[in-house]
Amino acid sequence: MSDTSDKAWSGRFSEPVSDLVKRYTASVFFDQRMAAQDVRGSLAHARMLARQGIISQDDFTAIERGLAQVAEEIAAGSFVWNLDDEDVHLNIEKRLTALIGDAGKRLHTGRSRNDQVATDIRLWLRDTIDTLDGLLADLMRALLEVAETHAATPMPGFTHLQVAQPVTFGHHLLAYVEMLRRDRERFADCRKRVNRLPLGAAALAGTTFPIDREFVARELGFEAICENSLDAVSDRDFAIEFCAAASLVMVHLSRFSEELILWMSPRGGFIDLADRFCTGSSIMPQKKNPDVPELARGKSGRVFGHLMGLLTLMKGQPLACNKDNQEDKEPLFDTADTLVDTLRIFAAMAPGIKVKATAMAAALKQGYATATDLADYLVKRGLPFRDAHEAVARAVRAAETQGCELAELPLTELQSFSPLIGADVFDVLSVAGSLAARDHLGGTAPNQVKAAIARWRATLGAD
Ligand code: ARG
Repeated sequence: MSDTSDKAWSGRFSEPVSDLVKRYTASVFFDQRMAAQDVRGSLAHARMLARQGIISQDDFTAIERGLAQVAEEIAAGSFVWNLDDEDVHLNIEKRLTALIGDAGKRLHTGRSRNDQVATDIRLWLRDTIDTLDGLLADLMRALLEVAETHAATPMPGFTHLQVAQPVTFGHHLLAYVEMLRRDRERFADCRKRVNRLPLGAAALAGTTFPIDREFVARELGFEAICENSLDAVSDRDFAIEFCAAASLVMVHLSRFSEELILWMSPRGGFIDLADRFCTGSSIMPQKKNPDVPELARGKSGRVFGHLMGLLTLMKGQPLACNKDNQEDKEPLFDTADTLVDTLRIFAAMAPGIKVKATAMAAALKQGYATATDLADYLVKRGLPFRDAHEAVARAVRAAETQGCELAELPLTELQSFSPLIGADVFDVLSVAGSLAARDHLGGTAPNQVKAAIARWRATLGAD
């Protein structure tokens, strides 16, 4: 052998790979993260090989023992990862062979790194989705707690960032709980397509050995098998789907972040965040900045970027597997890490949201938030809605000129805009009246908010 290298594939080559190429093509420094999944996949594969009589029972026993030791070394941090061995798969195989000899060299029978890596990613992503599902549920529970405390706390609801109608703070938070539910649904749906076994596809065409793919699928907890071998090793659409679902989580968290930032600004002054979630300024001694939500808002960018990166990675790739696909891991890992950290920190931060109900009430008073209620009142007395809208608009203009609220206009003046207005109008113009009147499923009436929270608790309790 003229090659000085002992790479798994070096027999074909007449000179060792250049150091630059070695570093460029290696993935071991990031794909070692899938070591536990790689060991699991190898164990299931070896067990199947022995069951099918493709390797001996003795070889399997040696592989099982060797892989257990490899797993132990990795967990203990004593495993030596070597750039010369390119990736997690070859590093583990090499160590296994050093430990158990020829049996280790038989492990790769009927398998390729192409189906091996696709299996590892799917196992890793399945675990990650389960972790994220739990964290999304934790955040939902944390938001429910705050929503319950503030089921009846009035705040201005905005459209176009202008005061629109009164809502309760609890109702507002429940909007995010709904978004997070859909995020969990999306991950659960994505998980179905992640949870399929590529192993057995080998390099691209399947293998000449009498393998039992169903057995391996059962061993690894996969719900189904990727049926076409070319597709099994080449597509990463499941990873793209995951990043799309993750991007929507970040869209939702960035919206929440933006609101927390606005609410905490002295212009709004609606909330305060606990000191431990804020940072100061190195120059301005008075500053308390909502850095956590700001950073979450910013981190949405890298997650969207990873989605775009993976789409671009996949686009135009001819069948079957190409080296391009090695680039799928870092975006996936970083997406997961960003989500895990962001969800954790939000669940921890939510209970510390201090609501300044007085500031919310004051803002409500400034925005003619019950104008729609007055229009509805006139409609209930027979005026067509468009005419009611016009009458109330004139009343708002008058109140604005006088610098007062609608409820502060004398009854006689209100009646000048419509004779249908009676003394009971002041109930309708109150914030409490406005909230209580929106008393239907999905409405902001405090009793509806409480009922929604009770429904959420029943759903989330089962998780
Ligand atoms: N390290 C490779 C990866 O991450 C393993 C797949 C080997 N396939 C190949 N075309 N060299 O995808």
